[in-house]
Amino acid sequence: MLKGILNYAHYLLEETIQSGEKVIDATCGNGNDTLFFSKLVGENGHVYAFDIQDQAIANTRKVLINNNCSNVSLIHDSHERILDYFPKDKNEEIAGAIFNLGYLPRSDKTVITTPDSTVTAVDAILNRLKKDGLVVLVVYHGHEGGKEEKEGLLKYLLQLDQKQFNVLRYGFINQKNDPPFILAIQKKVLKLK
Ligand SMILES: C[S@@+](CC[C@H](N)C(=O)[O-])C[C@H]1O[C@@H](n2cnc3c(N)ncnc32)[C@H](O)[C@@H]1O
Repeated sequence: MLKGILNYAHYLLEETIQSGEKVIDATCGNGNDTLFFSKLVGENGHVYAFDIQDQAIANTRKVLINNNCSNVSLIHDSHERILDYFPKDKNEEIAGAIFNLGYLPRSDKTVITTPDSTVTAVDAILNRLKKDGLVVLVVYHGHEGGKEEKEGLLKYLLQLDQKQFNVLRYGFINQKNDPPFILAIQKKVLKLK
C-alpha cells in the first residue's frame, strides 16, 4: 500500500533516526510530531520543539505530560532562530527535523508559517545536520499564503547541490483541493562546501 502523507513522513524519519540522537520539531502545534520524535529518540536522545503560539506550546506540553516524556525542550520562539539554541561551540549534531507547515488546526488561520522564515530555518538546519541526516517538510498549500510558501521553498530546494543533498518530493497527483505533499532533504556529506 502507498503510505499517506503523515505516515510516509514518519516512516522516512524512522528509517533514518536512531535512539539517542537529537532532533527538531520546527512547528510543534498540537504535539503529534513532538510525541513521535520523543518516542523515536528515547530517553538518551533529545527533541527541540519550536512554536510561536502560546496555544501550541500549551497543547504540546499537555501531550508530553500525559505521555511521561522528559526528553523534550519546548521552545516558544520562531524556528528562524533555531541556531541560537544550538551554539556552534557546543558542537551538537542534529540527526533530523520535521516541519509541518501551515496553521494550527482548529485555531487562528492567519498565524501561518512563511516562506522566508521556513527557508531560513531549513538552511540553518542543513548546515548543522549530520551526514545522512534528514529534514522532512509536510507542505500544506491550500490556505491563503500557502502557495507563496510552497513556491519559495521549491525555489530554494531546487538550487541545492545534488552532490551534497538528495531532495525528494512525494505526493498524490490525482487528489482534489491542493493536497499536501512531502519534501525531504537528505544530507550526503559531513561538511558543506
Ligand atoms: C500545521 S501546524 C503544526 C502541527 C504539528 N506538527 C502537530 O503535530 O500538531 C503549524 C504550526 O506552525 C507554527 N508556526 C508558524 N510559524 C512559525 C515559526 N516561524 N516558528 C515556529 N512555529 C511556527 C504555528 O503556530 C502552528 O502551530
